[in-house]
Amino acid sequence: MAQTPASTPPPRRYHQPVMVAEVVDLLTPIESGVIVDATFGGGGHTEALLAALPNVSVLALDRDPDATSRVPVGTRVRLVTANFGDLARVLADPETVRWRHEHGARDPDRGHVAGVLFDLGVSSHQLDRAARGFSYRQEGPLDMRMGPDASLTAADVVNRYDVDRLSETFRRYGEEPNARRIAQSIVRSRPLATTSELAAVVAAAVPAAARRRRHPARRVFQAIRIAVNDELTAVATGLDAAIDALRPGGRVVVIAYHSLEDRIVKRRLVAGSKGCVCPPELPVCVCGNVAELRRLTRSALRPSDTEVAANPRARSARLRAAEKVAA
Ligand SMILES: C[S@@+](CC[C@H](N)C(=O)[O-])C[C@H]1O[C@@H](n2cnc3c(N)ncnc32)[C@H](O)[C@@H]1O
Repeated sequence: MAQTPASTPPPRRYHQPVMVAEVVDLLTPIESGVIVDATFGGGGHTEALLAALPNVSVLALDRDPDATSRVPVGTRVRLVTANFGDLARVLADPETVRWRHEHGARDPDRGHVAGVLFDLGVSSHQLDRAARGFSYRQEGPLDMRMGPDASLTAADVVNRYDVDRLSETFRRYGEEPNARRIAQSIVRSRPLATTSELAAVVAAAVPAAARRRRHPARRVFQAIRIAVNDELTAVATGLDAAIDALRPGGRVVVIAYHSLEDRIVKRRLVAGSKGCVCPPELPVCVCGNVAELRRLTRSALRPSDTEVAANPRARSARLRAAEKVAA
């Protein structure tokens, strides 16, 4: 067998999955049925779940066909190229329904799923491929689409939005303090064709102090990516559909990488776990609220220092989870 020379770096993984032990731990009470991996990526979480839960099958979604086309489909995995914002539609698709029934044979409530995992954001593979246009560190086209279902490209946002809309995008999705200055600079420099051109315009537009901290284009790239892929709408809709689809005792686990997503997740899990909200002086409940969830994480779990040292991209991860309670 050919030996790898000691100096050859190990092959780069498609994606190093984050907080795998925590995800598996939270989903381990699920003994059988179907778990949805809503963000398949490099399949690291799916692989760990299949290994830990021998009677579970995984319905894996990714909106990026590059992710769903590269892994051989095993008998316990069904891969679907879809936006998790369309989860309700995917679950109702006759092919998927048939597959779920076959793979939920030991599941007492076969219409439902036993767990849903969302590991939000982009994969390392998407970030590292310059041609996808996600990285401000590499020269690439202004694309940033996670999949062909996105109706915009980064070039559309950068070259067509007016100053007001650009600065609103940077403020809302990037929490960028210099949003207006950057927007004005971009409009003056148009047309922009590449990630490097955009990164240079942003760097020149921000005050020197902002250039000394993290990369000045980081927030702007995040904002454009969120706008291009309509990411926050997908998170809200996908999470609603996931909670709806869970069987009683089923669990949802979400890993978010920035505060905008994490806020949506936190609010939804808190709202779902609220029971009656009537004032205590009322003798009977008139609001009719019934908790549908029990939160499994009071505050978000964070990756260990050891994990962050080994995989710096895990640094911003925040994991929240909840269990569906019996109706
Ligand atoms: C952080 S990676 C997931 C990595 C994966 N857990 C693993 O172990 O390799 C996020 C993945 O989710 C996908 N994704 C992001 N938003 C999505 C959406 N709305 N619908 C479906 N897939 C999405 C991205 O294309 C990317 O492949």
